[in-house]
Amino acid sequence: MLILKTIAETQSACAQIRGEERILGLVPTMGALHEGHLSLVRAARSECDVVAVSIFVNPTQFGPNEDFGKYPRTFDEDCALLEREGVDLIFAPTVEEMYPSGASTFVLVEGVSERLDGASRPGHFRGVTTVVSKLFHIVGPHMAFFGQKDAAQIVVLRKMVRDLNCPVHLIVQPIVREMDGLALSSRNRYLSEKERRQALVLHRALQKVEEAVALGEKSSSKLIETTRVVFAEEPDVRIDYIAVVNPDTLENVPDIKDGALVAVAAFVGTTRLIDNTVI
Ligand code: PAJ
Repeated sequence: MLILKTIAETQSACAQIRGEERILGLVPTMGALHEGHLSLVRAARSECDVVAVSIFVNPTQFGPNEDFGKYPRTFDEDCALLEREGVDLIFAPTVEEMYPSGASTFVLVEGVSERLDGASRPGHFRGVTTVVSKLFHIVGPHMAFFGQKDAAQIVVLRKMVRDLNCPVHLIVQPIVREMDGLALSSRNRYLSEKERRQALVLHRALQKVEEAVALGEKSSSKLIETTRVVFAEEPDVRIDYIAVVNPDTLENVPDIKDGALVAVAAFVGTTRLIDNTVI
């Protein structure tokens, strides 16, 4: 397994792989890897000849008062996990390597970047689309693998790929959960035992939505009310948003007749968690 820290080395290694007509897959991550990330790696392993994983805690997607400084960094463990999964190449640049002083070019997908997490975290998706387009330029993957866990991120990235004609195929993998339903997240490491229990309310609320839909409920406002009732069981958990949206545009929909994405974000203590279900 190659571990590369510079853009030049990575660009040249990846150009060689593509030159040999081997299918190259990329799994972009911020490290602190868990089974959710590994599910993407396994999908890439089964679809591609060569698997590259990037590990980079991207400062431009964090707000000034967010957790960039304390985001978990577990590089040695991450490398050991990826080695075991048969990954071929890790790209792990420094912040200076990715954003040399004076860098002033950003990629912004207007509209969708201001919805859901983009509304709560101004500038977040601009940081995501900027770094992911840089990774696409550096690695040049044929396929890139992302998790449904970050549903809004997928919508923004799909639009970026379409609007900028990025020659890459996006593959989305389902949400990986703990046995009790909690969606895996690097940020779950921040939770105390008590908060870990409280955090289950996100999944419980979405399950109630699925049950209501199965019983015939179609109204978005009724479904949102259903989730609020469940969230009320955990008064310490502060809802950031509950939304029923069009899965392609992230715009609110009045009902789920044509399918919808139901997404929630909430603060458990100071930790912001997200979860979603596609109806
Ligand atoms: P990160 O949070 O490390 O997630 C990397 C990838 O793993 C994302 O595509 C995310 O959706 C996926 N993932 C996380 N938890 C998951 C789970 N429980 N089940 C399935 N997939 C899961 O998302 C980012 O990093 C960054 O924004 C990035 C795209 C790397 C750009 O910096």
